[in-house]
Amino acid sequence: MTETAAENPGRTDATQMLALYPEMAGKVAVVTGAARGMGAAFTAGLATRGVNVVAADINEGQMSATADEINAELAERSLADKPGRVLGARVDVTKSDDHEALAQVALKEFGRIDFWINNAGIFPFALVEDISPEQISAVLDVNVEGVLFGSQAAARHMAEGSAIVNMSSVSAVRNRRGRGAYCTSKAAVAHLTQSLAVELGDKGIRVNAIAPGYIDTEMTRWVREDPAALANALDSVPLHRLGSPEEVFGPLLFLLSDSARYVTGHSIAVDGGSRHV
Ligand SMILES: NC(=O)c1ccc[n+]([C@@H]2O[C@H](COP(=O)([O-])OP(=O)(O)OC[C@H]3O[C@@H](n4cnc5c(N)ncnc54)[C@H](O)[C@@H]3O)[C@@H](O)[C@H]2O)c1
Repeated sequence: MTETAAENPGRTDATQMLALYPEMAGKVAVVTGAARGMGAAFTAGLATRGVNVVAADINEGQMSATADEINAELAERSLADKPGRVLGARVDVTKSDDHEALAQVALKEFGRIDFWINNAGIFPFALVEDISPEQISAVLDVNVEGVLFGSQAAARHMAEGSAIVNMSSVSAVRNRRGRGAYCTSKAAVAHLTQSLAVELGDKGIRVNAIAPGYIDTEMTRWVREDPAALANALDSVPLHRLGSPEEVFGPLLFLLSDSARYVTGHSIAVDGGSRHV
């Protein structure tokens, strides 16, 4: 999160987007899987824009440290407008009740819920012949049921004009050896996003997904640290580099914003063009 733009051209300062979407200040978001990676970057970016965030993760210790770090960084910066507050919380996204508890925290602390980002996910390896019953259950529980339960909790408490964003993946439409369970789960997220959009449209709630390609987080450390794997991965990226969490934040902001108020049921690829190779 602290890597500079000079070290990686994909890294940008979230304040660079401050001129966009002023209507977001004062709104309230719930972000799951927020202790690190994209969830942490989304939380920091939203709070920079004046959004109050309930940031939740199964890793309570790391979540609390990340929330403290983001709040401290925002307090030190001389932002033109008041930043939002980040409240760290624990959630196991496989538990429906945990989502409702999260919603209650957001309502008690901030009085409303405008945005819900179902971001938590896991990415285990196994060739399809070797996927165990436990592994397929775990992947579907976290990556698919987690999105369903989060969206159900959000829908119970959100007003018309609110928005949900789910994390799918380029893996929803591309196959990767050893990631059959994961690819299946992300294809399910893309489809579930459409089903949710159709039904929650009745309440004026929009539901979209983001389908990232190779984004530089802990989840893809194995790619970054293995030159052969990195070269192989970048062969399928027209922009010839990994993306950064901050580069996924921009499309997220758009999907949450009023600019996207007639956009629902879509997956936006943020993949450097890799789905076309
Ligand atoms: N990094 C990529 O290249 C990439 C590409 C496509 C899609 N995605 C998706 O984007 C999302 C974020 O990915 P990331 O790279 O930041 O991952 P990450 O592994 O860095 O972070 C995921 C977070 O989810 C949390 N989590 C896992 N299981 C949980 C549970 N049961 N309840 C609550 N929290 C839980 C983890 O503790 C972790 O903090 C995931 O859904 C992932 O599948 C990532």
